[in-house]
Amino acid sequence: MKFSIVAIAALAAAWAGTALAQAKDPTIAGIEKYREMLGDDNPAELYEARGEQAWKKKAGPKNVSLENCDLGLGPGVVKGAYAQTPRYFADVDRVMDMETRINWCRMTQQGISEADIRKRPFGSADKPSEIEDLLTYVVTASKGMTMNVPSNHPKERAAYELGQAVFHMRAGPYDFSCATCHGEDNLRIRLQELPNLTKSEDAKRAYIGWPAYRVSTSRVHTMQWRINDCFRQQRLPEPRYMSEAVNALITYMAQTGNGAEYKGPALKR
Ligand code: HEC
Repeated sequence: MKFSIVAIAALAAAWAGTALAQAKDPTIAGIEKYREMLGDDNPAELYEARGEQAWKKKAGPKNVSLENCDLGLGPGVVKGAYAQTPRYFADVDRVMDMETRINWCRMTQQGISEADIRKRPFGSADKPSEIEDLLTYVVTASKGMTMNVPSNHPKERAAYELGQAVFHMRAGPYDFSCATCHGEDNLRIRLQELPNLTKSEDAKRAYIGWPAYRVSTSRVHTMQWRINDCFRQQRLPEPRYMSEAVNALITYMAQTGNGAEYKGPALKR
């Protein structure tokens, strides 16, 4: 375990540049091996346990728990709900990913202000944010289920199309789009494989890895965080947390990668 963490840290340090290269050598197999070595011990379980407590605890100005929150399968149903998001929610007449939905319940049911929710969505290694705990609990309850993200509602299709458009929109000082780094097969930045998120196979593999516990930062990160960080890689301003554009990007990737078995929060380098 100790060796592997050192090795992963070295990998993290090796990744710094932005040169895109075709993957031709066995380094990818090496990275897979490190993941395997870390595989049986995922600290995301601590987030899950804290999240379950937070879910059941009376909190917020209204002093209620989240146990009646409707995550898409009816009030209070947590099991399997994540595997069917992002989805259209009639009560808000919009498509939401799970992170946005849980926050919506915190606002409407517990009475927590939007300003408070927005204050600190992404925690730190020694102080995770509450949404990171809650989300880890909720997603883990879909472990072993097949991702079955709906696309019947017109707004679910519209979110996919908006997400696809944002994915291909070139902007910023380097004129990058998401597709610049994630629109071709076998791209990587130094040692980091870049999934081709326009293709079902790669999108499946990438999508089911989130939320993820990252060894290089010692904490769980959510998909909203992942997109924020990729906006940074794209040299764009930080997107607004829970925004329509971010939800649309997540919907696009989720629908593209539909049909894989969700294995719970993954371990990443
Ligand atoms: C400059 C290149 C670059 C751009 C542009 C970029 N990304 Fe990324 N992306 C990366 C890198 C590098 C990683 C792997 C990071 C890591 O693991 O440290 C990554 C990882 C990801 C992952 C996780 C993949 C996995 O297998 O876990 C997703 C999802 C993702 N990016 C989505 C996006 C989206 C959406 C956009 C556009 C808003 C975007 N990226 C733009 C470089 C980029």
